[in-house]
Amino acid sequence: MPTKLQLTFTADAPKGDAITICLIGKDCQIIPDLDQALAAHLIDAMAAFQFTGAVGKTMLVYHNQTSYLLIGTGAELRAGAAAEKLGGKLFSALAETGAKRGWLIDHKLDDQLLADICFGAELASYHFDRYFTDNKSADAQVQLFVTASGLQADSPLMADRRALANGVFVARDLVFEPANKLFPESFATRCSALADLGLEVEILDEAAMQKLGMGALLGVGQGSRRESRLVVMNWRGGGDEAPLALVGKGVTFDTGGISLKPPKGMEDMKWDMGGAAAVTGAMAAIAGRKIGKNVVGVIGLVENMPDGNAQRPGDVVTSMSGKTIEVINTDAEGRLVLADALHYTETRFKPRMMVNLATLTGAIIVSLGKEFGGMFTNSSGLAAQLRAAGAVTGEPVWHMPLGAAYHKMLKSHIADLKNIGGPYGGAITAACFLENFVNDTPWAHLDIAGKAWSDKATPTVPKGGTGYGVRLLNQLVDDWQEVSCDSATSDGDDDAG
Ligand code: BES
Ligand code: MN
Ligand code: ZN
Repeated sequence: MPTKLQLTFTADAPKGDAITICLIGKDCQIIPDLDQALAAHLIDAMAAFQFTGAVGKTMLVYHNQTSYLLIGTGAELRAGAAAEKLGGKLFSALAETGAKRGWLIDHKLDDQLLADICFGAELASYHFDRYFTDNKSADAQVQLFVTASGLQADSPLMADRRALANGVFVARDLVFEPANKLFPESFATRCSALADLGLEVEILDEAAMQKLGMGALLGVGQGSRRESRLVVMNWRGGGDEAPLALVGKGVTFDTGGISLKPPKGMEDMKWDMGGAAAVTGAMAAIAGRKIGKNVVGVIGLVENMPDGNAQRPGDVVTSMSGKTIEVINTDAEGRLVLADALHYTETRFKPRMMVNLATLTGAIIVSLGKEFGGMFTNSSGLAAQLRAAGAVTGEPVWHMPLGAAYHKMLKSHIADLKNIGGPYGGAITAACFLENFVNDTPWAHLDIAGKAWSDKATPTVPKGGTGYGVRLLNQLVDDWQEVSCDSATSDGDDDAG
């Protein structure tokens, strides 16, 4: 059970005791139709504790056998990210009181605003408790009753937010799972279950990939006892038009292979499938929301292990595109998986645009810290749309360069390409490597190594698997406008730029 929030819309006060929740505006503004004596008491209490209604601040007040949870909204509460954040704080404050029930009285809020508050509370309530044997998740349930003048549980707005929250939780669940439970085959099985939402799910096994010539992807998986898979999730909401394509790196565990990683922190590499999780979650959201467009999600699933059969540094593999790759470092495996996944997606679906997500490099964390996903693209039009989608959803991206100077660093003496560049600009050379496997489709690569997992909670994202990318992709698909590739492509012989 991914969420411990139970949301109930109710016309009247819930039976039994529930903490009454009041939103308080700037300078202790209380909603006008609150009982006068109660309002006077609350104002007194706020003054005593210097509570001014500043945004996100909370306070508990007891009066006439009832507890009141006051939540500051600041001067003006807007729908969108601010309202979600407030909803997240509302949930945490309610949970912290130890109470199991809260009642958000009718504040005559705009539907959109209230839906966003509920959505924020829902996102904040996520927890992954699958492997605790003293499973207390039933007692951990928090019930939030909401009284509203317009919005109801079955309002389209609420159904839409629920579908989106479900997509985020699909991704978080996948990211949290340990690699002995979630491996290429079991990941693919989970994708199959999404057929319930109306997605067409197709699974390619190793034999099928062999036939297609996916030597780059298969080379990464060949050292593992777990078979590799490629999963295609197709949402056909848009008739015959060419689809938008989402592509994900799904390395269910990355030991580094023969270029073995050091032990410290290696457990983090269970979430090296964060890109595939984001794509899967986004497809779940898109299908759940019944979007009127065609969207296809493709994920490459492999486990990168050292073994007697593992690929060696120096091996040369032939990718599906026909390009040969010298594998200098077996730990630069994500790009090998994506090389084939991108080429397959572009040639089979001829998409109108293609966005891939991957926990691709440690170098992107060196560049951007954990604040942004790194965005690399051959289309400034797509860059603008991704930047906008990132800003409204709170899943921001920062535009990084591509360019011929970086491409040169990928030249091999014995093959078309090698899989690593020099010591510097590692996130950029990784992106340039991918660019070799995209032809003339508007494409963006998002390096989300700093975003898929978080060590500290924020109001709507608990610690651990973040589900980063689901909302970003969902928004992009919603708002997408026709784009083209930039005329000065960066893979020519000209200088960087
Ligand atoms: N999965 C890692 C990147 C990564 C690092 C993700 C930290 C999340 C957190 C990737 O496969 C990798 O190992 N990249 C190498 C590339 C290098 C060998 C060129 C890296 O970043 O060190
Ligand atoms: Mn690696
Ligand atoms: Zn990796």
